[in-house]
Amino acid sequence: MASLTKDLTAAASAAFSAIGLEARWGDVRRSDKPDLADFQCDGAMGAAKSAGRNPREIASEIAEVLKAYPAVLSAEVAGPGFINLRVSDAVLSARAADILADKDMAGGEPAPDPQVTVIDFGGPNVAKPMHVGHLRSAVIGDTLQRLLKFLGDTVTSDTHLGDWGLQMGHLVTELYDEQPDLIYFDESYTGPYPDEPPVTIEDLGRLYPAASNKAKDDPARNQRSQNAVAELQAGRPGYRALLKHFINVSVAALKVDYAFLNVSFDLWKGESDVDHLIPGLIERFCKAGLAEESQGALIVHVARESDKKEMPPVMLLNSRGGTGYHTTDLATIEDRMMHMHPTAERMLYVVDQRQALHFEQVFRAAELVGLIDEGHLEHIGFGTVNGPDGKPFKTREGGVLRLADLILITTEAVKEKLFREDASTGEFIVHDGLTRAIQEHFSLNRKLGRRSLAKLYVNLMMTFRSMRMKDEWNVRKTSTSFNNIIRKSTLKSEANAMHYFYGLAIDKTKSQLIDTIVGHLLKFNFRALGVFDSSRSSSIILRRLQEYIEELYARPIAVAALRFADLQNTRTTNYVFDIERFTSFEGKTGPYLLYAAVRIKSLLRRAEADGNAPGEIVVGHDAERALVLALDGFGAALLGAREKRMPHILCEHVFGLSQAFSGFYGALPIANESDPALRASRLALATAVLRQLEVGLGILGIDVPERM
Ligand code: ARG
Repeated sequence: MASLTKDLTAAASAAFSAIGLEARWGDVRRSDKPDLADFQCDGAMGAAKSAGRNPREIASEIAEVLKAYPAVLSAEVAGPGFINLRVSDAVLSARAADILADKDMAGGEPAPDPQVTVIDFGGPNVAKPMHVGHLRSAVIGDTLQRLLKFLGDTVTSDTHLGDWGLQMGHLVTELYDEQPDLIYFDESYTGPYPDEPPVTIEDLGRLYPAASNKAKDDPARNQRSQNAVAELQAGRPGYRALLKHFINVSVAALKVDYAFLNVSFDLWKGESDVDHLIPGLIERFCKAGLAEESQGALIVHVARESDKKEMPPVMLLNSRGGTGYHTTDLATIEDRMMHMHPTAERMLYVVDQRQALHFEQVFRAAELVGLIDEGHLEHIGFGTVNGPDGKPFKTREGGVLRLADLILITTEAVKEKLFREDASTGEFIVHDGLTRAIQEHFSLNRKLGRRSLAKLYVNLMMTFRSMRMKDEWNVRKTSTSFNNIIRKSTLKSEANAMHYFYGLAIDKTKSQLIDTIVGHLLKFNFRALGVFDSSRSSSIILRRLQEYIEELYARPIAVAALRFADLQNTRTTNYVFDIERFTSFEGKTGPYLLYAAVRIKSLLRRAEADGNAPGEIVVGHDAERALVLALDGFGAALLGAREKRMPHILCEHVFGLSQAFSGFYGALPIANESDPALRASRLALATAVLRQLEVGLGILGIDVPERM
């Protein structure tokens, strides 16, 4: 489905052609000045320059042609030769209807040139915990994988584990020092390979830093690790078995962090998986006369005359006969392009910008030896995550921040905003203002027996009941038991309700009772949960509540905060990690966008409950026009993000869309509009916005909960 921008571009391009000028001048885009125009075309100036004509004259000729299009309401020449375009309400209404009807792409359009693409991202190293630097690769890579798949590319993602370097030697030797009796160290070991791993992830987390610290100022210790790597790479069975264990144990742990971030991979291959290809590959380089011996190492020159910067050679084999990062990356290209994905047209590496030289070298060597044309290999570099000092983010102690800790910090910051304990009063406070009324109903200072649970329950019901009038809750959507109580006309007093509740609770255990209460609490907007005191009596419920809140709200909000904060930056720039800003519910943040989408959901739910359905879209008001223009930009944002491999373009779009929605929401009644046709139209617009927001956020890896 074409967008208005595209249609207008086609029309303007044809107009330029018709007067003998190049079609490319007909590029149309959204206007910078929405009060003056919907779209603009700036091509007349460029065209005039190359044709040696007057730009305003050209602009008015083009404008005349465009005016003839029924979609074009007005076409005016401004300044030196800008063409300002307004489109009709009818064309905007029709476009909005198309977007709403587009179940698959919510107004986006597929890539014109779908490709078979491998995306290499994540790049965690076995036994080394992931750190803040791995966040960007994970989040950008995953977003590109979602984006490309959405647009029709055939994508295979591979995490490319770092499992072939010195760290493996450190692990093997350090483990030997602790447990020399392990069968894997037996020189005659050839298998079998028992399922039970000899180490846990905690062991790995301890062994690696221990060894690497010792090796730092002890060359002999370092040499032992290097020897172990050499033996491993040479295929010593016991070491290979250990490697496999280390990988399995690490991958299980890595999956937890990735799952939190909503990141997944098709393949979990690693450097060690291409070991068997290395001898053949080296042979290939030698046969082609590309490899050369230098100080005991085998190298490939990749420098070119035209190089402005120094381009060191690729190292195929080091002087110890071992293979490193260059060689495994080259063998991996062979594996992917020749064995795994013979039809692959493209390979994307989402890796820190600081590895640019490495990839330049590898890509050149890959082309030299005939694996693939360099042009099909792309390094998608990204900037660093910095601390407030502008240097790569460090913990207070000066170490690198682990990704798991980053996730923890973010979740805590979100929880702090949702649900926090006031240090001075010991009260638990739930985000937002609707808490007073509930607070008044809570005086849970006695022992939490069945009776007080019943009382708590009743208090909650009373509170909800009294607040129902003032606020937006839809009490109809809660569980039957709760509904029954609410509907009971006998609920005149607390005593009556309590009586009723005892009836309900008769065969429930205490913990079932707690679950029932918590369940009911959670069926409501959590903002209504109110302020609790933290006396012992209510602590069980509080704890349970906190767990639920964490799982249901804090986690998705934290994921949204982290992913959006990262993705909204131009990929190649560095950004400063600012947890307060990222987790804020205001501004250009993930939580804000979630909140915006959840608000539309609840608006539509309420409308539906009131029997108001979306209907035919009739655009008229400025705020509606602006909203449809925003919706119309989705396709271009998706394709732009794909073409440039820049997720922030999509972030800009979803943010702009939610702003346009908030303008619309502020300017016009929606569910409360008294004219039924307008009400139905606005509900339809809201539905289209929600769907596009959800699709857009989904590509960014952000899921929108039902309530927040
Ligand atoms: N393991 C590497 C690192 O931590 C990243 C791997 C990136 N991918 C690649 N094919 N080289 O730096």
